[in-house]
Amino acid sequence: MLSDPSPTKPQAPLDDKIADEGRFLRSWLEDPLRVGAVSPSGRALARMMARYVDPQAPGPVIELGPGTGSMTRALLERGVAPGRLFLIEFDPNFCKLLKERFPGVNVIEGDAYAFRSLIEARTSEPAAAVVSSLPLLVKPETQRLDLLADAFACMRPEGVFIQFTYGPASPMPRFKPFGPTFRAERSPQVWLNIPPASVWVYQAALAHSPPQEAAKPNPAQAFFERLRRGAEKIQINLKPPRP
Ligand SMILES: C[S@@+](CC[C@H](N)C(=O)[O-])C[C@H]1O[C@@H](n2cnc3c(N)ncnc32)[C@H](O)[C@@H]1O
Repeated sequence: MLSDPSPTKPQAPLDDKIADEGRFLRSWLEDPLRVGAVSPSGRALARMMARYVDPQAPGPVIELGPGTGSMTRALLERGVAPGRLFLIEFDPNFCKLLKERFPGVNVIEGDAYAFRSLIEARTSEPAAAVVSSLPLLVKPETQRLDLLADAFACMRPEGVFIQFTYGPASPMPRFKPFGPTFRAERSPQVWLNIPPASVWVYQAALAHSPPQEAAKPNPAQAFFERLRRGAEKIQINLKPPRP
């Protein structure tokens, strides 16, 4: 699932980075559960997220919870055209900053958990990827799986949902009887981030199902079919001879 590494470009200026730390901390103090981190993601983590996006795949790339734009910058560096990027951010101050910082990128102020209606009001083209930095673990499992199902519904079949986490386990619960079926892959640990993190990539299971084989009946079905044929034969044999 991992695409080729992106070409490198200059990083954000140092004074922007320092200012972003302050903005982030302020936003975190206002609502720690919504923001989920005290400082923006580092460049290594942002590049690891962006590596899973194929810039050649057609369609929008949707970013959920862009904050001050660490992931956005990495996605642009990766070669995703600004007009293909749709960012959904709750915080109005972050939205203002993102609009100034990334001309041509579509910035939408709103709730990322309702992203599907926000995107569908703007484009009908299936998305190539959904890149999420949302603090998913504060949400119930059903809400996380609903978000993933919405992402699969508005992406191309081979589209990927990309999420980072500081924890050891997949932020999307696996082996649940409800929710979409998916394939999950974890990146190597990104140690050059504070705190260290890893990236999970989810793809709808259908994108990987092998070409349809001729349907084989299951063993129980085959047994009952033999039984039925046997019973039919007996009935034929028991029919009285014609006069
Ligand atoms: C952990 S920060 C990540 C910011 C940035 N992408 C980064 O990696 O540095 C999470 C971001 O998601 C935003 N956020 C959280 N819940 C949201 C929601 N329901 N809708 C939109 N944005 C949300 C927060 O405001 C914050 O900017």
